[in-house]
Amino acid sequence: MPTIRERWSSRSSFVFAAIGSAIGLGNVWRFPYITYQNGGGAFLIPYFVALITAGIPLMILEYYVGQETQRAPPTALKKIWKKSEWIGWFSVCLVFLLSTYYSTIMSWCVNYFYQSFTLGWGSTPEAINNFFNNTLLGKSGSPGILGGIQMPVLIGLAITWISIYLCLFRGVKILGKIVYFTVCIPWLLLIIMVIRGLSLPGAIEGLNFYLTPDFSVLLKPQAWLAAYGQIFYTLSLAMGTLIIYASYQPKDSDITANAFITSLANCGTAFLAGFAVFSTLGYLAQSMGVSVPEVTKSGLGLAFVTYPTAINLLPVASRFFGAFFFLLLLTLGIDSAFSEVEPVVGSIVDKWGLKKKWVLPLVCIFGFLVGILYSTRGGFYWVDLADHFICNYGITLVGLLECIVIGYVFGARKARSCINEVSDVRIGPWWDVFIKFITPIVLGVSFIMQLIKLIQNGYGNYPIWTIFTGMGFIVLLLILSVILSRRKGVSDE
Ligand code: TRP
Repeated sequence: MPTIRERWSSRSSFVFAAIGSAIGLGNVWRFPYITYQNGGGAFLIPYFVALITAGIPLMILEYYVGQETQRAPPTALKKIWKKSEWIGWFSVCLVFLLSTYYSTIMSWCVNYFYQSFTLGWGSTPEAINNFFNNTLLGKSGSPGILGGIQMPVLIGLAITWISIYLCLFRGVKILGKIVYFTVCIPWLLLIIMVIRGLSLPGAIEGLNFYLTPDFSVLLKPQAWLAAYGQIFYTLSLAMGTLIIYASYQPKDSDITANAFITSLANCGTAFLAGFAVFSTLGYLAQSMGVSVPEVTKSGLGLAFVTYPTAINLLPVASRFFGAFFFLLLLTLGIDSAFSEVEPVVGSIVDKWGLKKKWVLPLVCIFGFLVGILYSTRGGFYWVDLADHFICNYGITLVGLLECIVIGYVFGARKARSCINEVSDVRIGPWWDVFIKFITPIVLGVSFIMQLIKLIQNGYGNYPIWTIFTGMGFIVLLLILSVILSRRKGVSDE
């Protein structure tokens, strides 16, 4: 018996939800740092090229798949081509794992937000380092030693999952209202942080580092790979989120203009976040009498060690700005976090016709239970490893498979003519070229290069067994996806 599909209350709800998913923690700690590391201002060139040649074409493709089939990723892909249901399940497995560690990072933000009222993380850089690594995470020294649960992290995790549940349980109509807040509040906070950052002494130094172009990077394949990787990550591509969101759109809604709006809003926000982060780092460097690169830490250290250090040094209202910064991260992250859960729930509902009312809490509880691993003293390493494997191999693989299924099996031309029929902005044959050749080639090359690098150098300082575990896990997920795709579901007809 076909049930009536849920719907967004308006076009802008859908666009805001997609923007909310795209703009997340990655925009604040990943983008500025990767830009700085890969040639500053010059990196914007590969970044923009990646956006045009892979980000937008694939986003259009995913919107089309969801909207045309009106189904969650596995059943949607099955409708496109009978044999591709497993690709959908694979992306669902990946996004579920992503949600489990993403919510852990959110939990750290919850803890920092709480601490910001008293600046409880300490006052010197050493104290802050100690707070993050020892007090909060209680790092065990190796992923093999789990050594007990860190209660504050577990509590933060529970708060995060309850919030995810509360955002999702009333369905897509209400979600469409919530996203206005979860997108606009961070924009407002970000603008405040940028103004505050720019008004600090030393800000210009920081911005110089962020933006001074080093054009020699254009010749380095590494910078190009980083740009493509960042585009895929930041636009929430290849994880089923965009497919499920688009499936709640009526069949005749616009596709291309929505894809352009979503991606440009996201990349603009990332660029702006760079100003907030680097102006503050410039101030930190000046206050400590060192150069900007010396205070610039990679990845998570940037948000949880370097930035709080800078906040402490603020001449006025440091508690206030500390709370603002972590509230910014929380509001940025929450809509990405629930957009990681929705595809999992939607896929189960669509395949077996179960009630969302029951599936959602079960998925949330299960996600929380997996998160217990990340709340242990060895958890930090597992967050890092999961992030590495999912974002480098998982996303690339799914993106590649999607391009092949649509580009070759279904036919890029056929898809394009359907897309043009409903869209305001018409796309030309260039789209076929990207979907059939350029995007899959880039993804294929980057997958192979990453794999070679992994085999040659391992990853970080992790023991070799963790690499095997990661790889083994990806293979296990592939097998699980095939098994799930063979199970009988309720008829789609
Ligand atoms: N785009 C999100 C961010 O910038 C993270 C993310 C990556 C994501 N892939 C996703 C979110 C898939 C939802 C679904 O933080």
